[in-house]
Amino acid sequence: MQINAQNVVFCAFAKDLIIMKKIAVFASGTGSNAVNLVQYFSTKKDMEIALLLSNKANAPVIDKMKALGVPTVVVTNEKFEDSSYMLSLLREYDISFIILAGFLKIIPPFLTETFDNKIINIHPSLLPKYGGKGMYGMKVHEAVVAAGDKESGITIHYLNNRYDEGEVIFQAVCEVTTDDTAEDVAKKVHALEYEHYPKVAEKILQSIKN
Ligand code: GRF
Repeated sequence: MQINAQNVVFCAFAKDLIIMKKIAVFASGTGSNAVNLVQYFSTKKDMEIALLLSNKANAPVIDKMKALGVPTVVVTNEKFEDSSYMLSLLREYDISFIILAGFLKIIPPFLTETFDNKIINIHPSLLPKYGGKGMYGMKVHEAVVAAGDKESGITIHYLNNRYDEGEVIFQAVCEVTTDDTAEDVAKKVHALEYEHYPKVAEKILQSIKN
C-alpha cells in the first residue's frame, strides 16, 4: 500500500475503532443486580448495558435504571411473546447479549434460538437444588434453612425455555450456619451475585464475536 496522508489517518482511526457490544438486562423486581451490572459495565470501553426490559410496569428496577440513564422498556405479556415485536425491539437497540436479573417469565423459544448461548440467568441456589417453577427469591433461602443445609450459593447458567435448566456456567458457594435465618442467607447469596455475575458475563462477552 502506498502511504499517504489519507490512509495514515484511516489507519490511525481503525486502530482506535471499538465495536461496542450492547447488552439488554431483563428484570421484574428490585433490581439490585441490574444496578450492579450497570455500574460494572460503565467502566468498560467495549460493552454497555443498552436496555432494561421489564414485564412489570411498577417494578422498582425501572426507576433505578432510569436514574442511571439506561433506556427502559416495559412489555406486556402479549408483546413479550410476539417474536416480530421483540426481535425488532432488540435490533433497534443493537442488542447482542441478554442478562436476566430476577426476570420472572419463561423466555420464549424464538429468543433462545436467536440468542443461542447469548442469554444467561442467575439463580440464588446451587442448582439443581432449589430450582424450578415457584422457586425464587426468599422462597429459595427459606427452603435452604428449613432443610438445615450447611451451604448455599449461586448458579449462573445459559438459558433454555425451562425454568433453571440451561447449562451451568459457574457456581459459587457460601456457608450456612445453624444460626442463619433466610434473610442472612439472602445477604450472603446477594454478595456472591454482585461479586461474580458481572465478571462471568464479561468473560462470556469477550469470547463472543459479534
Ligand atoms: C437474585 O437473587 C437472582 O439470583 C434471582 O433474582 C434475584 C433478583 O434480585 N434470579 P435483585 O432484583 O437483583 O435484587
